[in-house]
Amino acid sequence: MRVRKLAYGCGAEITDVDLSADLPQSTIDDIREAWLKHVILVFPNQDFTIDQHIRFSRRFGELESHPMKNLRSPLGPEILEIHNRVIDGKPSETGDIGRNWHSDGAFTTQPPTGSFLHCRAMPEAGGNTWFNNMYMAYETLSPKMKNIIADLEVVNDINNIYIRAGGVGRRDPHKVAEDNRLNPPVIQSMVRVHSETGRKALYLSEAVTQRIVGLTQDEGAGILQYLFKHSVRPEFTYRHYWRINDLVLWDNRCAMHLAPRDYDPGEIRHMCRTTLTGEKLGRYLDQLPA
Ligand code: SIN
Repeated sequence: MRVRKLAYGCGAEITDVDLSADLPQSTIDDIREAWLKHVILVFPNQDFTIDQHIRFSRRFGELESHPMKNLRSPLGPEILEIHNRVIDGKPSETGDIGRNWHSDGAFTTQPPTGSFLHCRAMPEAGGNTWFNNMYMAYETLSPKMKNIIADLEVVNDINNIYIRAGGVGRRDPHKVAEDNRLNPPVIQSMVRVHSETGRKALYLSEAVTQRIVGLTQDEGAGILQYLFKHSVRPEFTYRHYWRINDLVLWDNRCAMHLAPRDYDPGEIRHMCRTTLTGEKLGRYLDQLPA
């Protein structure tokens, strides 16, 4: 297995390994070590079936079913299909997933550790995914700013995604209401300590972070806007230009990602994701003392 760094901020390419094979534990350990170090791993030319994708992902832990029930794929509860196909006259509900910077599941009290995204179809141009490194975002703050945010908590709300998109868009308002019922707003610490590396990372996102606990909307907005902008400074990022059969693994504990609408919507983009169950983190907003 060969490891080649892809960018200053994050990302490494792993070659000379066939993920569809029954890999020895030592190779899985090497991959985990590279993942913890580089945050984002790219494995080109992995022509594998859904079952092989699931089997490889399970070597890193338990897999979750997506917290938004309507997004679950007929291919199996562990698979999230992100595609823009029209099926039986219905537009895809996942075509516009990830249009704002986010860390998967940050609107839940058990956000996933990592996500494995496999490319099955890509438009001729565009369809990229951007990633960033939230350790770097934290570590490059001034000592004073680190002090200010040390004990701050944020409210993360799935509904924020729809508000940012200018309403419920083409999604059925009943489904949006159901998402909200199943995923009520949560409180997370703004600074997250990575459960394996022990390093501190910023943990907030423009997709779901609505406000800072204990501050008025106006007081918190300035800090949040600054941190959103700071987190995605170009030197913390890696932009992935997909090829069919690339598999990308990222670490949701210390990275965000964004899937811009940078391609012809008439062309098909089709991705399959498995997601590693994470540790319990944060609490529901309604548990906040009055
Ligand atoms: C996501 O997991 O947010 C989607 C990423 C992508 O489709 O590139």
